[in-house]
Amino acid sequence: MTQDELKQAVAKAAADYVAANVPAGSIVGVGTGSTANCFIDELAKIKERIGATVASSEATKQRLEAHGIKVLDLNEVSSMPVYVDGADEITARLEMVKGGGGALTREKIVAAVADQFVCVCDASKLVDTLGKFPLPVEVIPMAREYVAREIVKLGGQPKLRTGFTTDNGNLILDVHGLRIGDPAGFEATLNGIVGVVTNGLFACRGADLLLLATPTGVKQITR
Ligand code: 5RP
Repeated sequence: MTQDELKQAVAKAAADYVAANVPAGSIVGVGTGSTANCFIDELAKIKERIGATVASSEATKQRLEAHGIKVLDLNEVSSMPVYVDGADEITARLEMVKGGGGALTREKIVAAVADQFVCVCDASKLVDTLGKFPLPVEVIPMAREYVAREIVKLGGQPKLRTGFTTDNGNLILDVHGLRIGDPAGFEATLNGIVGVVTNGLFACRGADLLLLATPTGVKQITR
């Protein structure tokens, strides 16, 4: 199977999961990226069953609306049973690196509201140790160089994502050269640097369920 076929398989499994486990009329949180896009296309097939969605990026909002799926502002929503999103790396403990698409801050906010985080990945994303994929850090523009120097002190090699501005008007530093032994601790340390909006480690609040697409089928992995 190609990687695209694996993404489509896991997206269908996620839509089936939502249809089977989420009360009709519920709000569904929707992530960002190519796997999330496949999920949106599958969600469109069951759109009569869900109440509305909350999008984690402008790109996701546009794709949902193109399918005729209602998108709410998060501030209008007080409960959300499920959030479905991809990841750049994930461990068996369901800690993740996210933000390859630069939507990490809105993804983390929408995920925080959801009761359950369902991560959808193909098998290439499952790793023993996080950090081979450069860790995205969203920074306030005026703090860019200060934050970069602080990250170097922590052992990382930050590189500015050139020509990219987040949906929130900020910059992304992609941090190379990490082997992250304590994901929750490192997430908190990075978020403690003044000028960091948030970073792409989702460990303090990881996923609750991983739907992992493999050539022999979609596996369900829980913590
Ligand atoms: C976007 C993300 C994505 O979930 C992550 O980059 C995975 O994307 P893809 O499904 O395209 O591999 O965090 O900010």
